[in-house]
Parts: sequence; structure tokens; C-alpha cells
Amino acid sequence: MDDLVFARAIHVVAIVAWIGGLALETMVILPIAASPETPPGLFERTERLFAPIARIAVLLAGASGFYMVHALDAWGRYSDAGFWWMHAMTAIWVLFTLVLFVLEPWFLHAWFQRRMSEAPVATMTLIQRLHWVLLSVSTITVFGAVVGSHG
Ligand code: HEM
Repeated sequence: MDDLVFARAIHVVAIVAWIGGLALETMVILPIAASPETPPGLFERTERLFAPIARIAVLLAGASGFYMVHALDAWGRYSDAGFWWMHAMTAIWVLFTLVLFVLEPWFLHAWFQRRMSEAPVATMTLIQRLHWVLLSVSTITVFGAVVGSHG
């Protein structure tokens, strides 16, 4: 196995763990957490367990992704709109890196707790909407990246 194939395999495994976790959170956990029969705190407990996994996956996806850009000598793709999926991958990665490593530990966690005590239903609706936006954009990007690199 050459190092490009190895990097690609790491990249895909990391994306499966990361975007797969996002899909489960969005389509299964959040609807259960938002139901009035569910005791409060389910969303926060799953986020607390999933955040370290997502952080490792984001680091591995970024390292393997940039390694592939270097190994393929593909930096020029960033100035070609036809490679929109390269821009999309990088933008999603930057967004999640910011949220998981900077915004969440810094203030998002405290903001969520405060808003949940003031307006729990509106806060859960907002969180669900944001997750759907992230999942939709990520799914389109995965589709575009596979078609773009093999099609
Ligand atoms: C810093 C961030 C990232 C960089 C630099 C990066 C870079 C790359 C590169 C260079 C390739 C190989 C393209 C080719 O063979 O022509 C690739 C493939 C791929 N990337 Fe990323 N990527 C990043 C983040 C992401 C994210 C966030 C996702 C998912 C939302 C993603 C999903 C994929 C997929 C599905 C493939 C195709 C794998 C295959 O079928 O061979 N990447 N990426």
C-alpha cells in the first residue's frame, strides 16, 4: 500500500466516524432529546461523549486531507471553481475545527445551558435546524468529493 492510498483510507475512516456521528445525532438522538417525554440532558450527554471522537476524527481528516493535497500536488485546485468540492471539504473542516476546538469550549457550551434554562423548546428547535444544515452540506460534499475524485 503506498502512502497516498494509506492517507485516503485514513481520510475516509475519519469522515465515516465524524459525519456518521453527525447523521445519528441529527436524525435519531435530537428528535428523541426534543420529545417532551425524554428527561432533559440527553443531547448534552451524547455531545459530551461524541465531542472527543469528533475532535480526533477532524484532526485525522485534516492531516490526511492536506497530505493528499501535497502528495497529489493539488494546491492549484483551490483556484479552480470546478473543484468546488475541494473548497467545500476545506470549509466544512475549518468550521468544525472552530466549533470543536475554540467556540464550544470557550462559550457555546455556557450559551447553550443558559438558553436551555430560558427557552428550552426554541433552543432545541434551533439546534435541530443547525444540525440539519450541517448534515445536508456535509452529505452534498461527500457526494461531490467521491464523484470529483473518481468520476
Ligand atoms: C482540510 C480539509 C480537507 C482536505 C484538505 C481534504 C482533501 C482531500 C483530498 C486531496 C482528497 C483526494 C482527492 C482526489 O483523489 O483527487 C479528498 C478526498 C475525499 N474527501 Fe477530503 N479533504 C478535507 C476534508 C474533508 C471533509 C470535511 C469531508 C467530508 C465532508 C471530506 C470527504 C472526502 C471524500 C468523501 C473523499 C473521496 C474519497 C475517495 O472516494 O477516494 N474531506 N479529500
